[in-house]
Amino acid sequence: MHARSVGIDALSFYCPRYALDLKVLAEARSVDPQKYAAGLGQDCMAVPPPDEDVVTMGASAALPLVQEGDRDAIALLLFATESGVDQSKAAALHLHGLLDLPHGCRAVEMKQACYSATAALQLACAWLALHPDRTALIVAADIARYELRSPGEPTQGAGAVAMRLAVEPRLLALDPEAGLFADDVMDFWRPNYRSEALVDGQYSTRVYLQSLLHCWAQYREQSGRGLADFDRFCYHLPFTRMAEKAHGRLARACGAPAPDAETLARLVGDGLRYNRQTGNTYAASLYEGLTSLLDTSDADLAGCRIGLFSYGSGCTGEFFSGVVQPDYRVALRAEAHRRLLEDRTALEYQQYEDIFQLAVPTDGGEHAFAQYRTGPFRLAGIGQHKRIYERVDE
Ligand code: CAA
Repeated sequence: MHARSVGIDALSFYCPRYALDLKVLAEARSVDPQKYAAGLGQDCMAVPPPDEDVVTMGASAALPLVQEGDRDAIALLLFATESGVDQSKAAALHLHGLLDLPHGCRAVEMKQACYSATAALQLACAWLALHPDRTALIVAADIARYELRSPGEPTQGAGAVAMRLAVEPRLLALDPEAGLFADDVMDFWRPNYRSEALVDGQYSTRVYLQSLLHCWAQYREQSGRGLADFDRFCYHLPFTRMAEKAHGRLARACGAPAPDAETLARLVGDGLRYNRQTGNTYAASLYEGLTSLLDTSDADLAGCRIGLFSYGSGCTGEFFSGVVQPDYRVALRAEAHRRLLEDRTALEYQQYEDIFQLAVPTDGGEHAFAQYRTGPFRLAGIGQHKRIYERVDE
C-alpha cells in the first residue's frame, strides 16, 4: 500500500494595510533609490499600524481557511514567530479564541528566527501521517524591525501566512527528503529587552549561503536529485535579491553555469512578487514566496517540483521539496491577495517614523488604541497587562 501524500492544502496571506514606498525612504536617507530597488530587490515595506500585531495579522491570514474548511477537524495549531507578544502565553491561544477553534486542539508557539514555520510544517506532516482524518493549521507572522537609519531598515516588513496541512493536499505534496543544517552563530538576534533586531548584515548573508550549500548536499545525498530535477525554487527572502544570489551560488556549487537573468526570472522570479511589496516577513517569508509563485505564475505548475530553502539566523537551514498538485489552481486565493496588496494606504515618511516610534504601554493601566485600517481583527487596547483583541465589523 502506498503511503498517502501529506502537505499544503490551502494557503492564505495577509499584510498590513499601510505601506512605505522605498523611494520615499531613499529620499529621506539620501540614498540612490536604485540601491533598494535593484541592489536589494525591494519596492515597498508593509507597516503595521499601532492596533495590529502578529496575533491580528496571523488571525486575519487564518480566518478564510477556518471559514472555508472543516473547523472541527483542526487538532493542531502551530504559531511560528520571532515577534511574539508574550514570554509565556503562546500567540496560538489568542488565535484559538479569535478563530473559535475546537478545544481538542494542541496549540503552541514556535521560535527559531525565520525558520520556525518550516519546523512547524515538518512536525505537522509527521503528525498527520498518524492522524490522517485531522488537519493542522500553521500560522507564521512577523514584524521585521531594525533600527532607523541602519542598513537593515530598508528590508523591514510585516505579514502573515496561514497554511492548512492535510493528507492528499490540493496545493503541494511534500517529498520525504530534507537536508538540514544547524550551527551556533551570531548573525542576527534580538535580546528580550529589545524591539529591534541586531544583525551583522554582511556576515548574515554569508552564513545564509553556507547553510544553503550544507542543506543541499544532505538533501542531494538523500534524494539523488540534481538541479535539473526542479522546475522552480523558493528561497527564504530577507530581501528578494537574496534569492538570486542564493540560486547563483547553488548553481556554481553544482558545477552549472551562472544562471542568466532569463533563467533566474523563470526559476525564482514569480516567487518574489509579494515580498518585493511587503519587505521581510521573517517566519512567513518563504511561504509568502511560495504563495506568490503559485498565485502569479502564468505557467501551469501542476506536476512541477519546487525546491524550498528555509533559513533562520542563529542558525538553522533546511532544503526540502514538494510537487504541485493537479488541481492546485482551484485552491488558490490569488484574487484576494492581489486586492490586499493593491488596496494599501501609502505613508509619508513622517507617518512611518511616528508609527515606528510608538510602543505598547507597559504601565499596566487601561489604554484604548486608535482605530486604523486593519483586517478582520485588531488590537483594541491593553489593560492590566492583558492585550484586548476585537473583531472588526466589515
Ligand atoms: N544601484 C544599484 N545597486 C546598488 C546601488 C545603486 N546605487 N548601491 C548599492 N547597490 C547594491 C550593492 O552593490 C549590493 O549588491 P551586491 O550584494 O550584489 O553587491 C546591494 O546593493 C546592497 O548593497 P550593500 O551590500 O552595500 O548594502 P548594505 O551593506 O547597506 O546592506 C544588508 C545590505 C547587509 C543585507 C542589509 O540590508 C542588512 O543588514 N539587512 C538585514 C540582514 C539580512 O537581511 N540578512 C540576510 C541574511 S540573514 C536572513 O536571511 C535572516 C533574516 O531574515 C534576517
